[in-house]
Order: sequence, then C-alpha cells, then structure tokens
Amino acid sequence: MPFRRTYLLVPCLALVSLLGARLEAHSAAQSGSTVELPRWAYPVLPPAPAAPKAAIPSTMGHVPGSTAEYNLHAIPSLQVVPDWFPDEHPPMPPVVGHGRLPDIGACGHCHLPTGMGRPENQSVAGLPAAYMLQQVEDFRSGARHSSEPRMASVEHMILDSRAATPDEIKAGVAYFASLKPHRWIRVVETDTVPATKISALTLVVVDPDKREPIGNRVVEISEDQEQTELRNPHSGFVAYVPKGSLQVGESLVRTGGDGKTIACTTCHGATLHGVGNVPSIAGRSPSQMAFLNESARIWISSGANAAQMKGPVAKLSASDIVAITGYLASLEP
Ligand code: HEC
Ligand code: HEC
Repeated sequence: MPFRRTYLLVPCLALVSLLGARLEAHSAAQSGSTVELPRWAYPVLPPAPAAPKAAIPSTMGHVPGSTAEYNLHAIPSLQVVPDWFPDEHPPMPPVVGHGRLPDIGACGHCHLPTGMGRPENQSVAGLPAAYMLQQVEDFRSGARHSSEPRMASVEHMILDSRAATPDEIKAGVAYFASLKPHRWIRVVETDTVPATKISALTLVVVDPDKREPIGNRVVEISEDQEQTELRNPHSGFVAYVPKGSLQVGESLVRTGGDGKTIACTTCHGATLHGVGNVPSIAGRSPSQMAFLNESARIWISSGANAAQMKGPVAKLSASDIVAITGYLASLEP
C-alpha cells in the first residue's frame, strides 16, 4: 500500500515575527561595511514594510514521485521541513526535522533533509563533523558572520547557533556529516541569461523568453522555480557563467594562475573534496562559495582556521571569483 502522509501545518506567525525582531536588532549591530559585494551572490532587497497578520489558507502541494503533501502556505515557516522522500535519507533528529519552539528554526528547512541546501543556504552534506562544529561555534561566538547583514538566512543561522543546545548542534552536525552529497547544480557557459529579479534572497526568472547579457556574474537559478519553492530535493539548480570561465577557473584553482592566488588544491586536496578538516569545495553552489570567499576577504574578525583563507583570496578580482566558483560548481561533489 503506498504510504500517504498528510501534514496539517500551522506555522506560528508569532514565531516568525519574534525572529524578525531579533534579526533586525542583530543586523543593525553589524552594518556599516562599505565594501562593494558581488550582487549576484547576495540577492537582497531593501526591507519591506511588515505585512498585516492574516490566517494562513490551506492549499496542498505535491511533487512528482512522492505521496506526501504539504500546505503550500506553511512551507516558508522556518520550522517546516517538507520531507518528500523520507526513504532517501536517514531519520532526521528533531532539531533537523522540526526545530524547536519558540526560537529554533529546523536545520533541515534551510539545508534540506539531503543537506544539499540552496544558493542562500549552504550545502553541508558530507562535510567533516569537526569542521562543522567549529563553524557553528564561530557563528555562535560572532567570529563568523555575513559580509552582507541583509542576508537574513545567515542571520537566522547565527540565531540558531545561539539558541540550540550543544546536544542539538551535535545531533544536527552528525546527521549532515553522515550524508553523501550529490550533483545538484548544472553549470552552463553562455553570453546571455534569462532576465532575473531578486525574490526572497534568490534570483528568479522574470520572463524565460527575455534574455540579457550575463556580464561579469554567475547567475544561479532554479531548474524549476515551482519545485524549488516546494523544496523538492529532486529539483536542483543551473548556474550560468560567462564563456571561458571554466578554463580560467581551472587554472586559478589548480595552479594559482601565475601567482594571483595559492592553488586551492594545496589545502583542499587534489580533487578539491577536502583533506582532514579542510572542507570540500567541489560541486557546491557558486553563490555560497562566492560569499564565503568574499567573507574571508573582508571579515573583521575570523574563526579559528579562517585565517588560512585570507591569503588565497587577497588578490582575487571579481571576475576571478566568477571563474573560480563556476569551475568549482562544475565538479562532481
Ligand atoms: C534559516 C536558515 C538556516 C537554518 C535554520 C540553519 N542554517 Fe546552517 N547555515 C545557513 C546559512 C545561510 C549558512 C551559510 C552562512 C554564511 O554564508 O556564512 C549556514 C551555514 C552552516 C554551516 C557551515 C557550513 C560550511 O560549509 O561552512 C553549518 C555547519 C550549519 N549551517 C549547520 C546548521 C545546523 C546544525 C543547523 C540547525 C541547528 C542549521 N545550520 C540551521 C542557514 C541556516
Ligand atoms: C592555505 C590553505 C588554503 C588554501 C590555499 C585555500 N584554502 Fe580554502 N579553506 C582553507 C581552510 C583551512 C578552510 C576552512 C576555514 C575554517 O575552518 O573556517 C577553507 C575554507 C574555504 C571555503 C569555505 C567552505 C565552506 O564549507 O564554508 C571556501 C569556499 C574556500 N576555502 C575556497 C577556496 C578557494 C576557491 C581556494 C583557491 C583560490 C582556496 N580555498 C585555497 C584553507 C585553504
């Protein structure tokens, strides 16, 4: 008998507004940076006026191949983790699957039950547990933060790192460390891209028939926007990069590009899948890798091992970062 799950989800609006208020206070404390960031990696809009509270309507959403269903209007809640394919991953610990009221967003809401994340929420599948514990500790202590205080996803990560207990963090990290990353991003070299606009920390296509020059950017968008909004773990992303990026990126990553940088392979390993507690950078989101490179360049303070990244990123230009992150994303994770 096909097993059918119906989740009647009532997201807690009070929680959302509580997190919102904490976020504002936290972001304000960190603003003030004057460094120009690559906008393609930080799709943020000016703050919108608060929407009036209203009852959440119930419209059930489905994805191909799954018998589960979820209320479409509840999916944006930080404590909702649509688990379309529960047989494809180990059981999630509570902090990953639901979070905890009043103020812990579920790790799986942002990083997904597969740990593959989205452009605005990092992929964590299969990273070394000790590395991840250190990162969460760095978020908690304030050593690691975003170069763009309006990246609400990062600010929520920081709030979670402070609100979760050490045991919850250990359980969340052990879960993600146990997962195997899979290909999630298709990289395409091109001169033009579909016109996009910023929506909720990601880029979305305005009109698939309207194209514009790619310029000096990576344009990372959903393969299928509707499926991404449902958080379908079978529907990934496409990253458009300017023509020629992959070759330039490969040279910078593998040889250091005539002294522009230190070959990433020196520390991240010959296949770029990481060595010991140095994380894998292969097959991960170019937006994530770019904001981490930028962060390494301009962080005011830095976590225990983050200093090692300052040298490699010191002299990289905006187009080097496009080429490097595009090349890294094209690799098998
Ligand atoms: C609201 C979304 C959100 C939630 C909930 C969330 N994270 Fe994150 N997490 C992020 C974002 C965004 C980043 C990347 C931050 C940055 O750019 O520096 C991140 C980064 C991380 C990293 C660092 C990965 C790396 O490669 O450096 C770890 C580890 C992590 N999260 C674990 C967790 C755990 C464990 C939980 C649950 C207790 C959790 N996250 C909950 C959004 C979230
Ligand atoms: C001298 C050694 C060294 C070199 C060379 C190096 N890295 Fe790193 N990198 C590290 C270490 C160590 C970390 C983990 C930092 C931490 O623990 O906070 C890291 C982290 C990263 C991260 C963050 C990954 C994540 O999961 O959050 C990215 C992205 C990255 N490196 C990209 C690069 C790129 C691209 C290059 C080449 C241009 C490069 N690195 C060269 C040592 C190095």
